[in-house]
Amino acid sequence: MKDSKTKTESTINQKKFPDPNQTFPLKGYEQLCFLKNIIRNPNIIVGDFTYYHDFEDVKNFERNVKYHFDFTGDKLFIGKFCMIASGVKFIMNGANHLSEAISSFPFAIFEGWEHAMDGKAYPYKGDTHIGNDVWLGNDVTIMPGVTIGDGAIVGANSVVTKDVPAYSIVGGNPANIIKMRFSDERIKELLKMAWWNWPIEKISAHVSELTGKDFMQNHTLKTSSKKE
Ligand SMILES: CC(C)(COP(=O)(O)OP(=O)(O)OC[C@H]1O[C@@H](n2cnc3c(N)ncnc32)[C@H](O)[C@@H]1OP(=O)(O)O)[C@@H](O)C(=O)NCCC(=O)NCCS
Repeated sequence: MKDSKTKTESTINQKKFPDPNQTFPLKGYEQLCFLKNIIRNPNIIVGDFTYYHDFEDVKNFERNVKYHFDFTGDKLFIGKFCMIASGVKFIMNGANHLSEAISSFPFAIFEGWEHAMDGKAYPYKGDTHIGNDVWLGNDVTIMPGVTIGDGAIVGANSVVTKDVPAYSIVGGNPANIIKMRFSDERIKELLKMAWWNWPIEKISAHVSELTGKDFMQNHTLKTSSKKE
């Protein structure tokens, strides 16, 4: 305990943690970026430390937010400390055609047929919300209006069509729950703890516990969380 206290203080004194405002946090490696720093579209809102990895070009990210038209106005919210792998795609509401009409063909976008949609609207599923500490695996696709809870993991190549509970692991097409990461009780505690909202100095001081399995048992994090 004494050792960890000493280490904590020295870490805080040295302010040793990555700067969330830098685009490329890994020295000499430009295939991984802190995502918020490359976003130009005001309808994409990304939290600190969320990173995006792309083997070709990290600028691909906005290209992979598809059918995201200004006139539709839907938003993509991504929390803090998310891990977004290469090829992850977000399908937004501009992709929606009519599915309950006789034809799903978008007549109204073509000259002479503009009146086809008078008094009607395309299906709208709302904004897309990705929580905090969410891991989206390689080539995942997220459909419009989906909410993914904090701490969830989405397996490679999955297509997420409906909301994903916090701290679940989902996979497949359509993505279904493979397993829960923790017991209901522990999930409740983790959501209350919401470590991603701590001051960065406190997160820095606890990275070993955050990457451990038994940190809820020794209550180190809960105790220090209450103090601040
Ligand atoms: C989802 C994932 C995290 C699960 O890992 P795990 O907890 O070790 O789980 P397991 O490998 O034991 O698999 C558990 C079950 O999930 C299934 N599963 C695993 N990955 C899956 C996926 N991507 N899609 C659908 N099902 C999947 C397995 O077939 C297995 O099914 P079963 O219980 O019927 O046998 C992992 O498979 C994965 O997809 N990781 C993403 C890797 C990635 O894309 N990284 C990008 C760089 S950041």
